[in-house]
Amino acid sequence: MADAPWTARVLTLYPEMFPGPLGHSLAGAARARAIWALETVDIRGFARDKHATVDDAPFGGGPGMVLRPDVLAAAIDDAEARAERRLPLIYPTPRGASLTQRRVRELAAGDGAVLICGRFEGVDERVLEARDIEELSVGDYVLSGGETAALVLLDAVVRLLPGVTGSAESAAEESFEAGLLEYPQYTRPRMWEDRQVPDVLLSGDHEQIRRWRRAESERSTRERRPDLWRAATGSRENGTNG
Ligand code: ADE
Repeated sequence: MADAPWTARVLTLYPEMFPGPLGHSLAGAARARAIWALETVDIRGFARDKHATVDDAPFGGGPGMVLRPDVLAAAIDDAEARAERRLPLIYPTPRGASLTQRRVRELAAGDGAVLICGRFEGVDERVLEARDIEELSVGDYVLSGGETAALVLLDAVVRLLPGVTGSAESAAEESFEAGLLEYPQYTRPRMWEDRQVPDVLLSGDHEQIRRWRRAESERSTRERRPDLWRAATGSRENGTNG
C-alpha cells in the first residue's frame, strides 16, 4: 500500500494495555496488513521530577488525583512535533459528547487520531482548552480510565477502514448506519428447541425478505430505543410523510 496507514497515537500511563483486544481478529489482521498503525506514548516519560510525578491533588479539595497540565501538554506537543500529519486530539471522558457512528465514520475518513487517556479523577481543564481537545464519551457509565474507551473508539473506527471488513454491504446494513437497529439474524438449524426460523427468510423472495427485515428493524428500534426512533422518524411522526 502506498498510502500512509490510518494512525492511532495513544497517550497513556499504561502503554501495555495496547493493542490489547485490537491485536486480534479483524483489527489485528488489519494492523498486520498496515491498514492502520498504533503508536503508544507513555505520559510518564514527560514528568519533570525524579519521582516521575504525573498527577496531583485537585485544587478545591475532593477525592482522587488530577493529571498535571504541564506533563500532559508536553506529551501532546511532543507527539504533534514528531507527526507528519495533524490529527484530531481526543480525550475520552464520561463528560464528553456521545460518540456516534457519524463521528466514527468521520474519523475513519481522516488520517488518524491522537487519543489522550486519563486516569484518576481526570485531567486539568486548562490543557483541554489550550490544546483544543475534543471530549468524547462511550456511554453513560464510568470506566476506571480512558484506555478501554479508547479501545472502543478505535475498534469502531478500524472496522470501517477500507479493506478491513470483508463486505462493504455488511457495514452498510448494520445497526445505526440507517439510524435504526439491525434486524434479527438466524442460521441453521431451521428448528431449534421448538423454535422455528421465520418462514419469510426461507422463502427465497428477496423483496419480501427486505421488507420483513426493514419492519423488524423499525419495530425493535421503536421498542428498545425510542430516542433513536424519534430521531430517525422526526418528520414522519409529525405527519409530513407516510
Ligand atoms: N473514561 C471513563 N469513563 C468513560 C466513558 N464512559 N467514556 C469515555 N471515557 C471514559
